Amino acid sequence: MNNFRYHAYTDIRFGKGQVECLAGLVAPYGKNVLMVYGGGSIRKNGLYDKVKELLADFNVYELGGVEPNPKITSVREGAAICKKEKIDVVLAVGGGSTIDAAKVIAGAAYYDGEPWDLVADPGKIGKVLPIVTILTLAATGSEMNKNAVISNMETNEKLGTASHDFIPQASICDPTYLFTLPAMQTAAGTADIMSHIFEQYFQATTSAYISDRFAESLLKTCIKYCPIALKEPDNYEARANLMWASTQALNGLLSCGKGGGWTCHPIEHELSAYYDITHGVGLAIVTPRWMRYILNDKTVDKFCEYGRNVWEIEENDAYTCANMAIDATEQFFKDCGIPMTLREVGIDESKIDLMAADTIKYNDMNGTYVALSKEDIANILRASL
Ligand code: NZQ
Ligand code: ZN
Repeated sequence: MNNFRYHAYTDIRFGKGQVECLAGLVAPYGKNVLMVYGGGSIRKNGLYDKVKELLADFNVYELGGVEPNPKITSVREGAAICKKEKIDVVLAVGGGSTIDAAKVIAGAAYYDGEPWDLVADPGKIGKVLPIVTILTLAATGSEMNKNAVISNMETNEKLGTASHDFIPQASICDPTYLFTLPAMQTAAGTADIMSHIFEQYFQATTSAYISDRFAESLLKTCIKYCPIALKEPDNYEARANLMWASTQALNGLLSCGKGGGWTCHPIEHELSAYYDITHGVGLAIVTPRWMRYILNDKTVDKFCEYGRNVWEIEENDAYTCANMAIDATEQFFKDCGIPMTLREVGIDESKIDLMAADTIKYNDMNGTYVALSKEDIANILRASL
């Protein structure tokens, strides 16, 4: 196993009714709260009113309308409010996009320059306002991690940034908030959780046995509960298991003792940067094509291990077993109702070379499980058409 740092300090309040803790979680940081939220789902399901009621004794300023694939324009707006109103704590209420925007806003509150600098160069992130979240979508793990992904549509850039101080101080994770999710967000969120697991599971390090067994149990959780949540949106057990899987999949636990860069995320971020598609949908489309593309004598045993331990495939021939596992992955996403070709989400071949070049430009694709060149990435994208 590689050396690692694992410092998990987010105070997670998990379960039905935990929102009642909100005032107590916010109070240590001060009275001036910036509440960040998305396009209106929290108004429809009553969470907006509940938060306002619980924070009646605080000065609550608001930044609504944060977009899916959050834009730098929203971050600029939020940072300006923080500076003008002397905000003490940023409260994100929503999915990963809202939480990611809140993180960069919290950093930009103390930054004198243009907020995009903090996205382009994480080294410029200094002091960060405390962040509290109320999660409404099981997908990104942003509620307990240091990452934020922000888009600049003028330059077709969607970049990840990170700071240890972006890790939320506290996150309220109430599975009943997931009941109102549209089926496609439930499915795309699950594909995102599974992709986070794949990115850490398919790595060259083979000695982190414990991390791989954690990963497999989280994958099995997604495979068991996503179809139930799709059929019965208010099934608490299914929502609760998916919500906890999303947090555990990307809070640092699975990468302990492992190393290496990610593959499908850098490729998908270019799809979103150019076409603003749903992150989890892009991942579901690319993942099985990437798996097939890198299947070779060096990787076959790992794919077979995945097939045996996750899909319970009993097949002795390694290549047959690996291919069955990849087919099962693709079929699972299809059965969840995710469009499984790029054309179905409005992407044709015209920008494939451009997106492949940008993947390489912004990411080191040599340190991934299997190193990929610009041509390899273009081939994977063409196979995804
Ligand atoms: O904006 P509102 O009205 O709230 O609607 C949202 C949005 O339209 C809706 N929604 C959220 N919770 C809901 C709900 N609708 C009904 N009921 C609810 N309970 O769902 C839509 C998508 O929301 P969004 O926050 O965009 O989804 P997600 O959580 O999947 O976040 C995606 C973003 O996170 C980034 C992605 O690239 C993308 O920009 N990522 C962040 C990561 C991180 N911070 O660690 C890692 C990921 O790999 C990912 O890159
Ligand atoms: Zn993701």
